[in-house]
Amino acid sequence: MPDHADPSPIITIERHILDEQAVHPEATGILTNILYDLALAGKVIASKTTRAGLAEILGRTEDVNVQGETVMKLDRFADLTVTRLTDHTGRLAGLASEENASFLPIPAQYPMGKYLLVFDPLDGSSNVDFNMPVGTIFGIYHRLKDGGPVTEDEFLQPGRDLVAAGYIAYGTSTMFVYTAGHGVHGFTLDPAVGEFLLSHPNIRIPRPKYFSVNLGYQTYWSLGVRRYTEYLQGREGGVKGLSLRYIGTLVSDFHRNLLAGGVFYYPADSKDPKAPSGKLRLLYEAAPLALIAEQAGGYASNGRKPILDVTPASLHQRTPLFIGDRELVSKVEELIRGLDGAE
Ligand code: AHG
Ligand code: MN
Ligand code: MN
Repeated sequence: MPDHADPSPIITIERHILDEQAVHPEATGILTNILYDLALAGKVIASKTTRAGLAEILGRTEDVNVQGETVMKLDRFADLTVTRLTDHTGRLAGLASEENASFLPIPAQYPMGKYLLVFDPLDGSSNVDFNMPVGTIFGIYHRLKDGGPVTEDEFLQPGRDLVAAGYIAYGTSTMFVYTAGHGVHGFTLDPAVGEFLLSHPNIRIPRPKYFSVNLGYQTYWSLGVRRYTEYLQGREGGVKGLSLRYIGTLVSDFHRNLLAGGVFYYPADSKDPKAPSGKLRLLYEAAPLALIAEQAGGYASNGRKPILDVTPASLHQRTPLFIGDRELVSKVEELIRGLDGAE
């Protein structure tokens, strides 16, 4: 019989990182605090996403962002929540958000730190009004200079140099998933306690069950990507038995493939000549999730090379993304190399 007098250990994010620090001294207390700031932002955003239908938080603002997309009220709320919970702590030197054309320096009245935060405050905005799951994605870098005002080039680092990365998934439960370079760990929010508690230690991506892609754009893809999609559906000696699941929220589609096994892809497409590299952004969507994928035994590619090896040329640079099961992602690189010719 379980001994209810002796509850299993309650592992919070802080306790988990302190345990990590014991074996990885380079994981500093400041990084722990930044992760805590983001966990608090996640709780605040979750409090809105779970009541979006009640609070005046549904629908669109009048604004269009740098992406050319209408800003949803929850985009704006999430962006302000992350910014206001992190800009005054003295831990960051600057922030780069999907919702802002340029990066945000730390306001002059606050102390500056040594870390940079890149983030997608609300991923899956188009799903908010229909009670579908959404998420927040973040990446943390060391700044490149020892002091002085932050410049945009300090944000343009390859994902391989991320100090930590992760996401918050607002779904049937609220989960905080992160890596600081020593494995991937998932925490589930216990609303009764108001804390994220360790629920998925050392996540490793299992054998593939799913593939996730918006088949509606199939006619706009290259020959290599179309062949790959046939391969995933068991044709041409391909993989048998994969199910198609696509929510249209990157965080949710990725999270399902991370826990259940599978591959997500958003290829380059010829739909919009102004966006030949597809819809997803390298700095604050693809690269942080690529670090999670590789730390969990998976892989992430732009179709030609590892996402983590791509150095952004601009804050909002887009990239094709193939992410999840290492073998399945490597297969698309082989087909693109063979069928789509040189880059
Ligand atoms: P965001 O809401 O931050 O703009 O991201 C939306 C992205 C991503 O979450 C998802 O994978 C993709 O949009 C879905 O795009 P399609 O609707 O074109 O499939
Ligand atoms: Mn997004
Ligand atoms: Mn977004």
